Parts: sequence; C-alpha cells; structure tokens
Amino acid sequence: MENIQILDKSFKIYLTEKDITNRVAELAHQINVTHKGEEIVVVGILNGCFMFASDLFKQLDLQCRISFLKLASYQGTQSTGKIRQLIGLNEDIKEKTVIILEDIIDTGITMEHIINQLNAYNPSDIKIATLLFKPEAFQKDFPIDYTGFEIPDKFIVGYGLDYNGLGRNLRQIYQIK
Ligand code: IMP
Ligand code: MG
Repeated sequence: MENIQILDKSFKIYLTEKDITNRVAELAHQINVTHKGEEIVVVGILNGCFMFASDLFKQLDLQCRISFLKLASYQGTQSTGKIRQLIGLNEDIKEKTVIILEDIIDTGITMEHIINQLNAYNPSDIKIATLLFKPEAFQKDFPIDYTGFEIPDKFIVGYGLDYNGLGRNLRQIYQIK
C-alpha cells in the first residue's frame, strides 16, 4: 500500500520493509563488531521500540541480555515535552555496557532523561541505538552511536511507531502527507 489513512491523517510510504530489514541487519553487524567479546545489556524503550528491538536482538552475536523500560512523551503528533517516570528496569546494569534502543529520537528530550536516570545505576558505558533520527528537531548534544535512518522533521508511523496508538502493526514506515 502506497497511501494509508489513520484517523484524520493521510500518510504515504516512506521506508519499505526491505529498507528497514537491510538497515537493521547493518546496525546489528556494526554492534557485533564494535562490542565483540563484551557482555552487554540492551535496554529497549517501550512501546515504540518493540519491533526494532526484536529484529535487532535476534541478530546480535554477543553475550547479551535485554530489559525494557516504559515512558512516554507523545500525545497525537506533537511532543508534549512532559516526561514520565522510568519503570521496568529489571537487569543489573552496574559496570555493564548498556545499549539503549529507541524507535526514534526527535527532540532528544526523552533520551536525555533516560540517559540521566540510567547513569544513576553506574553502568560502565551507555551507547545509543535509534532506528530513526530527526536531526532538524534535535535539541540536545549527546552522541548517538548507532542510527538507522536520518529523516526529515515530519511525523511518521509504522514498524512500532504509532499515531494515537494506531499504526504500530504496519511493516513499512509511512510519512505524513
Ligand atoms: P523526543 O523526546 O522528542 O525525542 O521524542 C521521543 C519519542 O516521541 C519517541 O520515542 C517516539 O515515541 C515519539 N515520536 C517522536 N517522533 C515521532 C514520530 O514521527 N512518530 C511517532 N512517534 C514519534
Ligand atoms: Mg518511543
């Protein structure tokens, strides 16, 4: 499907399933090479990262654990800037290398908040992997270690990303028209 409608918004295809699959495999390879021999804890940020986390995690060839955190900053298509508490960390990250997985980094407010909270647990290192990154919207200056796609500052859905809770099941990523 080239065009879809979700509630009041129209979207057009932006990244195909193949684009996503290929890029996730490249990111997994990059992580495998960079962290060879290390023990890592992957921390996925729910809800948006679940598909990305699943596809990427299957391709890691390292001694790795996974945990998921929940927190949200979005209502509709505008970031509210409000950050909720982190819940759900159930792996010990003290003195471990943590790779945070996000679906998308937009303003960076959410990720900065997560980094600050995780640092309190004294991990040896924190790396960031995001499938999508909107450089024009980014307001922070932390380094992003693994980026799938740099995209324009336009709202997208699919492959785990939602518009008011809908569209997460789409295999492709759609951009608002
Ligand atoms: P940030 O705090 O502005 O970086 O926003 C991060 C969160 O907002 C992401 O984890 C997403 O859940 C959500 N988000 C940002 N941009 C989009 C988008 O284009 N579509 C769907 N969700 C988005
Ligand atoms: Mg998210």
